[in-house]
Amino acid sequence: MDYITIMEYREFGKTSFKASVIGMGTYYDPSFIILARLFHHYKDKDLKISALRKGLELGINMIDTAEIYETEKLVSEAIRGFKRDELFIATKVWPTHLHYDGVLKAAERSLKRLGCSYIDLYQIHFPNPLIPLEETLRAMNRLVDEGKVRYLGVSNFSLEQLKRAQEASPKYEIVSNQVEYNLLDRRIEKDLLPYCERNNIAILAYRPLAHGKLTRVLRKLKTSSRVEGKTPAQIALNWLINRSRVVFPIPRASKPERIVENIGAVGWSLNGYDCKTIEEELKDLTRK
Ligand SMILES: NC(=O)c1ccc[n+]([C@@H]2O[C@H](COP(=O)([O-])OP(=O)(O)OC[C@H]3O[C@@H](n4cnc5c(N)ncnc54)[C@H](OP(=O)(O)O)[C@@H]3O)[C@@H](O)[C@H]2O)c1
Repeated sequence: MDYITIMEYREFGKTSFKASVIGMGTYYDPSFIILARLFHHYKDKDLKISALRKGLELGINMIDTAEIYETEKLVSEAIRGFKRDELFIATKVWPTHLHYDGVLKAAERSLKRLGCSYIDLYQIHFPNPLIPLEETLRAMNRLVDEGKVRYLGVSNFSLEQLKRAQEASPKYEIVSNQVEYNLLDRRIEKDLLPYCERNNIAILAYRPLAHGKLTRVLRKLKTSSRVEGKTPAQIALNWLINRSRVVFPIPRASKPERIVENIGAVGWSLNGYDCKTIEEELKDLTRK
């Protein structure tokens, strides 16, 4: 199927960067990580790189990775030939590396693997209650001062933890929080999302397809088959994009045709009635 879409862009939180409303995730699976770490073998590397390149060619300009994913090298190959200043590369520091020196060293390793002179968004992957946030953020602020990082973000932070991180960052704002958000997991709507909307903090919505489950579940609904010409993945992603201006889903797709399909989530809007019915039908289905 052909999907001709013109990408949409929105300012990413308080940064001035106009990010595509859909980014690309690069967490594959534990076996990918183990093979990469132990044997430097990157399973289906060429296919994964061609999927990422297809997304970039079609106007996606944001890629999410992390030191733990073992995909920073893949990202470096995928972005080769694209203009660096038109891209938004986000990576993450693992919670055991959150001491001052640990952060600085982890960032250097990520920069080397990414083959970049700076990281656009450097995120704390998970909070670590054993290491003071002040210490971590002092190091992250230094990375911004040195031009190695442009913006700071967090991931898997509750509202309280996000507020604490904001207080602990001496000079630079926390521009985003990366958390799970999809039609089946709407926990952030209670307090985190409204706070982020009020304060213009971007939400990177991970598992936007509920790790693939939504594409199967949505197929069972009467309403989604009525949204003419749209696939379940496109419906799930469109729902997120329209939910809030601060939400940027980062689906992972390992094949170019899936990236193309996912980009077909952009350029149209689920109407209010369809949205509501899908939400209600899903509630009924998951209650059963
Ligand atoms: N910060 C965190 O703690 C955290 C946690 C989890 C994820 N993340 C980030 O969020 C990204 C996305 O999350 P995720 O990868 O767990 O889940 P996801 O994006 O919700 O789902 C990925 C699954 O959906 C499949 N898929 C993609 N497009 C599809 C389509 N059009 N039709 C049918 N199936 C499709 C993928 O298949 P194929 O890949 O086989 O094509 C894969 O199996 C990650 O890659 C990572 O960057 C962050």
